[in-house]
Amino acid sequence: MANTYSFFFIITFFFHLFGSTLGNTEIINFKATHSNNRSKSCQLKVQEALSQTLLLQPYPIDSEKGISESATIVALQACGLKENAWYQLRASWPAVYPSDIDLAWNDTHCLLHLYASFYSANTSLMKNPRPVPVQIDLDPLILGFLPSSVIPTVIVITALVVSSIPFAFFILKKQKQD
Ligand SMILES: *[C@@H]1O[C@H](CO)[C@@H](O)[C@H](O)[C@H]1NC(C)=O
Ligand SMILES: *[C@@H]1O[C@H](CO)[C@@H](O)[C@H](O)[C@H]1NC(C)=O
Ligand SMILES: *[C@@H]1O[C@H](CO)[C@@H](O)[C@H](O)[C@H]1NC(C)=O
Repeated sequence: MANTYSFFFIITFFFHLFGSTLGNTEIINFKATHSNNRSKSCQLKVQEALSQTLLLQPYPIDSEKGISESATIVALQACGLKENAWYQLRASWPAVYPSDIDLAWNDTHCLLHLYASFYSANTSLMKNPRPVPVQIDLDPLILGFLPSSVIPTVIVITALVVSSIPFAFFILKKQKQD
C-alpha cells in the first residue's frame, strides 16, 4: 500500500517538475475593482477557462545589452470578472525562446510587455528574433490565493495525505511494539 502512495507522489512531483523546466511563467494576482462584461470586444474571458496562445514578434536586440530595443506591447481586454474577486494572470512561454515578459493589470486590460533577451554570434538572428508563442491564462483565485486550475491537484494530494494518516499511526504503533 505504501508503494502505491509513493508512486502517486512521485508521478505528481515529476509532472510538476517537468512542466516547470520546459518553460518560463510570469504570474500576477489582482483584485477586480468592478465587474466588467458589457464589452463585446473582450480578448480574455474568465468563464471559458481557456488558455490562448499569441505569437508575438520581439523587437531587434541591442547587441550590447542583449535585450530588445523596445517592448512589444499587447493589451488584452478582460471580461467576466466579478467585483472584488481575485484573479491570477499567467503568461507562459517555452524556454527555447529566451525572453523577458512583464505583466500588469490596469483595471480593464491585461498589459503584456515582451523583450527578446539573448546574445548570439548570428547577427541576423539578433536583428530579427524569432516570434515567441506566449500562452495567456486568466484564472479565478479561490479564497484569494488558490488558482482554480490547481484545485483538482490539491484535492488529490489532500486525499492522499489524509488517507495515509491511519497508515502512519499503524507504522508508529508497530515500531513501538517491536
Ligand atoms: C454579466 O454577464 C452575466 C452572464 O453573462 C450576467 O448574468 C450579468 O448580469 C452581467 N453583469 C452585468 C453587470 O452586466
Ligand atoms: C488600460 O490599458 C488599455 C490599453 O492600453 C487602455 O485602452 C485603457 O484605457 C487602460 N485602462 C485604464 C483604466 O487605464
Ligand atoms: C542565422 O539566423 C538566421 C535566422 O534565424 C538563419 O536563417 C541562419 O541560418 C543563421 N545563420 C547561421 C550561420 O547560423
